[in-house]
Amino acid sequence: MKISIIGAGNIGGNLARLLVKSGNDVAIANSRGPASLKNLAVELGSKLHPVSLEEAIIYSDVIILSIHWRSIDSLATFNVPGKIIVDTTNPYKVDGTFYDLGSDISSSKVIEHFPGAIVLKAFNTIWFKHLSENGNTSLPILERRVIPIAGDDKKAKEKISRIIEEIGFGPLDTGTLKEGSKLQGVQGILYNRELKLKEAVSIIKDLK
Ligand SMILES: NC(=O)c1ccc[n+]([C@@H]2O[C@H](COP(=O)([O-])OP(=O)(O)OC[C@H]3O[C@@H](n4cnc5c(N)ncnc54)[C@H](OP(=O)(O)O)[C@@H]3O)[C@@H](O)[C@H]2O)c1
Repeated sequence: MKISIIGAGNIGGNLARLLVKSGNDVAIANSRGPASLKNLAVELGSKLHPVSLEEAIIYSDVIILSIHWRSIDSLATFNVPGKIIVDTTNPYKVDGTFYDLGSDISSSKVIEHFPGAIVLKAFNTIWFKHLSENGNTSLPILERRVIPIAGDDKKAKEKISRIIEEIGFGPLDTGTLKEGSKLQGVQGILYNRELKLKEAVSIIKDLK
């Protein structure tokens, strides 16, 4: 399938590698423009398409947003009714501490910049090196490293869950965007923990 990625760093760049390797066509944009992505294009070949931000937004109905949370306000507003935006961000400050959002969730900023989109939270709980190295399609799903996913649209979550499976991880639906973001957020029980899907399922069950 066609997938867009905004942000080509630790998470965006490694997701591009995994998604191209699993057979997808990936359009990727950063802040410096497509010419700066030449090395990645050489590495990944013809299924990797370095593009402008605007082209990335048009290219696919699935857009992975992987820039710093504090940079989201530097983006323009894009009306993208029905497109899926996968928000990978965490609300860190430059000094490594994080913003206290109170009862709000970090995806609220994403929703403001992409009106009409179906916003999901995923890929925010896993360190980029683990994302790059821990996927294993030969393991049964429950034995794989978990990648949790939150959102209000069941079909969209199923679509992204299939992608998570294709790159060798175990997707876990953590509920609505609001509920799931609390579990997946920087202070959440699923954040930055090396859990198999079956262990994460049991943790969530115990919470209920
Ligand atoms: N690092 C991790 O292990 C990890 C794990 C889970 C989640 N996250 C989250 O994932 C997000 C990305 O983290 P990262 O570590 O991948 O960051 P990173 O390596 O610093 O990469 C950030 C990317 O965002 C691009 N970017 C910045 N502003 C942009 C704009 N206005 N338009 C298009 N692209 C823009 C940058 O492009 P240029 O280089 O051209 O400026 C760069 O490619 C963050 O929100 C982080 O909290 C990170």
